[in-house]
Amino acid sequence: MKIGIIGKGNVGTALGSGLQREGHQVRYGHRDPSEPVQEAAHFGDVIILAVPFSGVKDAAQTIGNAADGKVLIDVTNALDKNMGLAIGLTTSGAEELQKLLPRSKVVKAFNTVFAQNQSTGKVGNTVLTAFIAGDDAKAKATVMDLAHDLGFDSLDVGPLKCARYLEPMAVLLIGLGYGLHMGTDMGFKLVRG
Ligand SMILES: NC(=O)c1ccc[n+]([C@@H]2O[C@H](COP(=O)([O-])OP(=O)(O)OC[C@H]3O[C@@H](n4cnc5c(N)ncnc54)[C@H](OP(=O)(O)O)[C@@H]3O)[C@@H](O)[C@H]2O)c1
Repeated sequence: MKIGIIGKGNVGTALGSGLQREGHQVRYGHRDPSEPVQEAAHFGDVIILAVPFSGVKDAAQTIGNAADGKVLIDVTNALDKNMGLAIGLTTSGAEELQKLLPRSKVVKAFNTVFAQNQSTGKVGNTVLTAFIAGDDAKAKATVMDLAHDLGFDSLDVGPLKCARYLEPMAVLLIGLGYGLHMGTDMGFKLVRG
């Protein structure tokens, strides 16, 4: 698939390198004029948003109608400066993004995974779970396939409003990794009997 990745930092490059390894075509967009956001957004059949929360509104405005009808994967976490939830539990970053780009098909994914584990979906040999939320079944299936390509165990967790549960998981992960000094060589795996 053609994937436009907005944000070329830890997350953008991790997902981009993994997707390229699996044969997908990637074009990056960020605020550097040599890699314009709009160009990457137009290029992608699927767009991945991987910018800091503080840049989401601006990035969404720049993406604009290039996201119409497309799958828009929201990897962002709505964090405040203390690494807490910036917008509380009665909405989510993903739902707010859907309001900013109403004709796109927002799917929340990969936000519960440290960037260093995103290109393989694994910690060591252990496969991590990609928790995936969205309202459009076809869009969600596309993201489930991409997560599987990367190496994850894909799990459909329900409609987009379930991002309200996935975003706090990221806060917990950051707290464990950095607050409790457990490091980033870890991740979430759902165990089923
Ligand atoms: N790091 C992780 O382990 C991790 C894991 C899961 C989710 N997340 C979430 O994923 C997002 C990205 O994290 P990251 O660690 O990749 O951040 P990062 O390394 O700081 O990279 C952010 C990227 O976004 C670009 N950017 C910033 N503002 C922009 C704007 N208005 N328009 C277009 N591009 C913009 C920056 O490039 P320019 O400055 O050149 O524009 C940079 O390439 C965050 O929301 C974070 O909470 C992070």
